[in-house]
Parts: sequence; structure tokens; C-alpha cells
Amino acid sequence: MAKQITDKVQWVGKVDWELTRFHGDEYSTNRGSSYNSYLVRDKKTALIDTVWRPYDHEFVARLKQTINLHDIDYIIMNHNEIDHSGALPELMREIPDTPIYCTKKGEAIIRGHYHQDWNFVNVRTGDTLSLGDTTLTFIEMAMIHWPDSMMTYFDGDGGILFSNDAFGQHFASESLYNDTVHSGELMYEAEKYFANIINPYSQLVAKKLQQIKDFNLDIRMICPSHGVIWKENPTQIIDKYALWCNAYQEDRITIAYDTMWQSTRLMAQAIAEGIGEVSPHTTVKLFNVAHEDKNDVLTEIWRSKAALFGSPTINNGYSYAMAGILEMVEGLRLKNKKAAAFGSYGWSGEAVRLIGERLTHSGLTLVDEGISLQWIPDEALLEKCREYGRNFARSL
Ligand code: FEO
Repeated sequence: MAKQITDKVQWVGKVDWELTRFHGDEYSTNRGSSYNSYLVRDKKTALIDTVWRPYDHEFVARLKQTINLHDIDYIIMNHNEIDHSGALPELMREIPDTPIYCTKKGEAIIRGHYHQDWNFVNVRTGDTLSLGDTTLTFIEMAMIHWPDSMMTYFDGDGGILFSNDAFGQHFASESLYNDTVHSGELMYEAEKYFANIINPYSQLVAKKLQQIKDFNLDIRMICPSHGVIWKENPTQIIDKYALWCNAYQEDRITIAYDTMWQSTRLMAQAIAEGIGEVSPHTTVKLFNVAHEDKNDVLTEIWRSKAALFGSPTINNGYSYAMAGILEMVEGLRLKNKKAAAFGSYGWSGEAVRLIGERLTHSGLTLVDEGISLQWIPDEALLEKCREYGRNFARSL
């Protein structure tokens, strides 16, 4: 069902309550998601973005209940990853000549995905499209988070920023607005989204936020392409992005470990105890990365001022689960994070050195060579871990 957002704008997207994984298996969506599409009606009518491909028939059928498809004058594609462009082929079968407004990269991506010679109109930052009494203005957002990304600003109804992925959250809600959902759950999903998807492009985010500010836009609502609409205090999410994109950290330490016979887990716990003795106000969390949600672990690491990574040595290396987390940590391009490695071993004991090398390569700052213990730690060795934790906390 279409939902009226303002006088001239309707939401015509899809709430996906069943979604538990996104980007293949790269991102957990424990609270579902939505693919937001919007109709903007003035003398002319524009459709902004579509939905993920599995919902293409449903999307077009519902759209037909809302509008005669031939009354859509323009299609605006802010970004063409499949979750937003997936319903284009189904829609374009009905209205094949309707112009598609997108960036030049957007056209290349649509052509690469769907291999159709549709009526493309390339737009750049500052270009406008009149809908009659109101106007759409385009703002390129290259690499936030794809090369084709852009935002569209509507100057009617008090000003609405259609921000696409930026300011989004994987968060299903029938009620659509930020003031109708649990604020803690919402902000967690917004943070997780930033940490896992946007953070690698933080430097670009900072510049873009400044550009948006320089446009001096009236913003009554921010309508992203995932999750709820920022209606109450809409620019709060812009302020959050300004904070998050600047090497964000809290007084928090994350200990991520894997364990085979519990020795590395015992080390993790003892290190945490040592940190707690020296720095009792620091939030310290432990995660067994073989079992915990990888994106939640990454979110915690992103929030932290420092993180420790522990693995037993197996086959002269570190564990499969630790390898996955380290690969994802490298991709986040974290800044200003201290780190260390630890782990137990039986004989060769390479894991700690190799984890340390990987962390350094990923741009984290190692505080020391880490701590490595053979076999099962007794009380004396656990005390050594506690002391290591104390020194780690003192080094921050
Ligand atoms: Fe929501 Fe980058 O697609």
C-alpha cells in the first residue's frame, strides 16, 4: 500500500520483514529492512528509486494501484545496486520510454546490470528538474557508497532530502518514521549501517556533509532508501554522520577471540579482568567470533578506542573465524584504533605474530608484540594475562 508522507510525496516501497542477510551473507539484517521508493507529484510526477528484484512484480502491481504508470514522467535512480534498481526491468516493460535520471556511472551500472537501451538522462551535482511549481535538485554522492550514488532534494512540502543509502538503516517498520519506533534500536541499526557500509568512505562523507551544509537546504524530512524516514529532528542523523566519519571512538575496548579448547577464551577473560582493574569505567566486551554476529562484532570494534584479537594457532596460522573478522576489519579502513593480538598454542605458535601483522597492515596501531601462551594456562599464566590487560589499558 502506498503511504502519503506529505502533500506531494507518497512512499511506494517494500518493507522486508523476512530479510536476515544482505549483500549475500556479508551483512546481517536482524531487524529486517525496507527498499524505499517514493512518488513525487506536482504538475509532473517523478518516481524515485525502485525495490529489490524479488519484489519487482509486487512493486509494479502496487504502483499501478496508486498511479497510472503512464502518468510517471520521470524515473530518478539515485543508486543502482540491485536492491534499488531490481524492479526497473519489470517497470520499464510497462513504460519503456520514460526517461531515467541518474549519474553517468549510474547509467553504466544500469546498462551493465540489465543490458537495455533505455532513455537515460545523466545528471550532475546542482542539476535541476522542474516538476511544475517545485523542483528536484541532484547532488552526487560518488562512493557513498557506490560510484553512481547521488541524493535528490525536493524543494516542495518544506524540503525533503531523498538520500538513498546514506542515513539509512536496515530496519523494518510499518510506521515509517523515526518517532514511531524504538529510538535505541533505530540508532543501533543506523550505527551498524554506518560502521559496516559507510565507514570505509568516511573522508568523502565529511566533504559531502559540508557540501550539503553549503547548499543551505531547508530539510523537513530525510527519506533514505532503507529503514525509517527521519521526520522528527531530521538533521540529527546528519550530525551523527559528522561525528561518526571523524575516526569515531568511545571509551570502549572490544576483545574478539576464537578458541578450540578454551585456552584462548581463558586468556581473553583474564585480559578483560586486567583492563577492568586499571580502567573500571571503560566498557569492555568479549565476543567469540566463531559464534557471534560478525557485523555486530565489527560495530563494537568500530565504536572502540582499542581492540584485542585472539586465536589459537592452527595449521601454522589463525582460525577460520578470526580470518573472516580480520578481513572485514581491514575493509572498514579504521582510523585511530589501538590493537593487540593474543592466543594459545601447542607447538609452533604463529597466530599472534600473524594477527599482529594483519592488524598493522589494516592500519591499526599495535601497542606491543602481543601475548602468546603454550597449552592450558594455569593461575600463574592467567595472572600474566591479567597483567598484560593492565598494561594494555595503561598504554591507551
Ligand atoms: Fe541499498 Fe547500495 O544499496
